[in-house]
Amino acid sequence: MIEVENLTKRYGNILAVDRVSFRVDSGEIVGFLGPNGAGKTTIMRILTGFIPPTGGRAILSGFDIMEKPLEVKRRIGYLPEHPPIYNDMLVSPYLEFVSQLKEVEAKERTREVRRVMDLCGLTEVENRLIGNLSRGYRQRVGLAQALLGDPEILVLDEPTIGLDPRQIIEIRELIKNLRSEHTIILSSHILPEVEMLCGRVIIIHEGKIVAEDRPEHLQSTLKSSDRLFVQVGRAGPEVPESIRRIPGVISVFTEEKIPGGYLIDLERDEQKVREEVARVIVAGGFGLLELKPIRMSLEEVFVRLTTVESGSPEEGGKFS
Ligand SMILES: Nc1ncnc2c1ncn2[C@@H]1O[C@H](COP(=O)(O)OP(=O)(O)O)[C@@H](O)[C@H]1O
Ligand SMILES: [Mg+2]
Repeated sequence: MIEVENLTKRYGNILAVDRVSFRVDSGEIVGFLGPNGAGKTTIMRILTGFIPPTGGRAILSGFDIMEKPLEVKRRIGYLPEHPPIYNDMLVSPYLEFVSQLKEVEAKERTREVRRVMDLCGLTEVENRLIGNLSRGYRQRVGLAQALLGDPEILVLDEPTIGLDPRQIIEIRELIKNLRSEHTIILSSHILPEVEMLCGRVIIIHEGKIVAEDRPEHLQSTLKSSDRLFVQVGRAGPEVPESIRRIPGVISVFTEEKIPGGYLIDLERDEQKVREEVARVIVAGGFGLLELKPIRMSLEEVFVRLTTVESGSPEEGGKFS
């Protein structure tokens, strides 16, 4: 289990992580989702004991990262952004070497290295030079070193970044197979990946958690404040004014890219509200051209959640 409370990290003037709190239960797989610079790597480096936090605390498997860093490190397998792999070593001796660092008992090492090589599909390249392997295989080596010693917790920083589509599928399959036996935190800026692998998503933006839920709930949270798009032939200030008066309508704003286009936020997308919007537009003689509901993919949810934080005035506060 992982418990994080008000974790904060400053690099000089940069507030990279801002009072982040969350909890990951044993056996759970949680995804950190956020754009570049959001603070995902920084949180992971703190949890794995590579850098100290500026404030707050984190407890992993009952041990405080500041008080018992060694106990924590023994229980974590970490795949950093840039895995610490040595290009001039062969795969199998490299893993032997890491297993020694990880205090795997001498008599267990060979078996343990075999186990992770099997798991990661590395057996056929065990005697190859790491530097000569493809990016996908090098990532498997990175994952294999994280798995040595069978740690309870896995922290995987952008495990599929830089891989080609086939390699991405392979690494995702591998992670899927690990999830029943480990507590996993992984980071990604790819939504479908997080949806596919994680039971829970923590969306991070500018060092803060801006949303946290199961992937399917994040979408339904937004469905409950659904949107309509309408286009009218005769736009004018009276159009949003009359739509805004309809019960169930939260706000109306102009879709600047489409002439006569408006976006309408509803409390809930119900047929009677849609009918009423259509009726008001027709009755006002605005010339209804189009009316359609807009469903948001997790991708759009993510974009909206993160744009709110950077202060878009008409949407401000809605999801915060
Ligand atoms: N060693 C460092 N020194 C100064 N600033 C850093 C350092 N590492 C990260 N940052 C800054 O902290 C913020 C968060 O970065 P990072 O944790 O790498 O985000 P992510 O992994 O989500 O892309 C960024 O603004 C980044 O520039
Ligand atoms: Mg990162």
